[in-house]
Amino acid sequence: MSITYDSNYKTRKILLQYVPLDSLRALTRQLLRRTALPAEHADIIADALVTSELRNLQGQGQGVRRVRAYVERVASGDLNVHAPYEVVKESLCLALIDAHNGPGTVVAVRSMNLAVQKAKACGIGVVVVRHSTHFGSASYSASQALNHGCIGVSMTNAGPEMAPWGGIEPVLGTNPWAVAVPTGDREDDMPIILDMALTMAGKGMMGWLMRDRRRMPRTWAITKDGRETDDPAEAMDGTLLPIGDYKGYGLSLITDVLTGVLGGGAFGTQPYSNPAFQDVGHQFIAYDIDWFMDRQTFYRRMAEFIATIRNSRKRPGVEEILLPGELEWRRMQEKKQHGVPLDPDIYEDLRRLAAELDVAWPFT
Ligand SMILES: NC(=O)c1ccc[n+]([C@@H]2O[C@H](COP(=O)([O-])OP(=O)(O)OC[C@H]3O[C@@H](n4cnc5c(N)ncnc54)[C@H](O)[C@@H]3O)[C@@H](O)[C@H]2O)c1
Repeated sequence: MSITYDSNYKTRKILLQYVPLDSLRALTRQLLRRTALPAEHADIIADALVTSELRNLQGQGQGVRRVRAYVERVASGDLNVHAPYEVVKESLCLALIDAHNGPGTVVAVRSMNLAVQKAKACGIGVVVVRHSTHFGSASYSASQALNHGCIGVSMTNAGPEMAPWGGIEPVLGTNPWAVAVPTGDREDDMPIILDMALTMAGKGMMGWLMRDRRRMPRTWAITKDGRETDDPAEAMDGTLLPIGDYKGYGLSLITDVLTGVLGGGAFGTQPYSNPAFQDVGHQFIAYDIDWFMDRQTFYRRMAEFIATIRNSRKRPGVEEILLPGELEWRRMQEKKQHGVPLDPDIYEDLRRLAAELDVAWPFT
């Protein structure tokens, strides 16, 4: 029997801890500022983690649960806080960057800004990065393009968790992509943001279902000997399945070509194999809409396109058609208003971390 996955999944058995957004943001900043990261970089990483916490589901693993890992990676020297952002090669519309094991989120934001700068000169800007580290949610850097009237594309390779189609051995990453498209110049104009890993789900989400004592869809992962399963525990040491069967496998392979192979860094089984040198590859693209047409014309065309999609006929039982990024947009509004529901394990971990770093605990 296949189990459908409610994309607005609400936990049944895990008691979430609601915290106010402002205090969570301040705490995350303070914790990261206690490290050797330059304050400006600590703030970028904090903002990215909190934004992911607002957009994503608790099990998806890109939010504030990562604070401890960042703090520890800085303390151990596994992350190079003084890494130069080296422009290896550059033309008017292209750049190749060596990130020298610097913080991936900061590298990603900087690279998207560079891609935007180049798009303003050429219509399009492409920045390929090698020797970077984990950059978090792909939409965070892709969205940097929005305020400049650009469409932003961010992609990255990742550690091997997916087998090639027909295989068992993990040799490809979840290799997420985000494409952020502005629909207007006002802050409340919801952009279209497709932000997706190329696997059906990640191990974080499987772990979450395991804790919630739920089965998982059989399309998510196979066991280590290649059997289908709906038991997240059994699949934890197996491999993740791609989106769209062999097509997702192909997309993941191509993403590694466009990031790791083309950038001159690690690819396939190599990224993340050495914790002290994750060697992650990224690519960032910015399209300057004004190069193609007047921006207001583009927005009108987008509105027409969106109306066509929304007004199309629905399948039985479907109440509304959503746009990419719409669920996350709604989650953000809801969490801003009613508080951020934290995984209780992460809440406790943050509390311990605050005590270890002598940061005042803001929640009662
Ligand atoms: N840095 C890394 O190594 C890494 C690796 C994997 C994932 N990630 C991040 O994890 C996050 C989660 O990724 P994911 O693939 O699990 O996301 P997801 O499956 O929840 O969503 C993927 C996309 O589908 C859209 N979507 C979902 N339901 C929809 C519906 N009913 N109608 C229309 N659109 C719908 C969402 O808006 C989103 O754009 C992302 O931010 C991703 O960048 C990062």
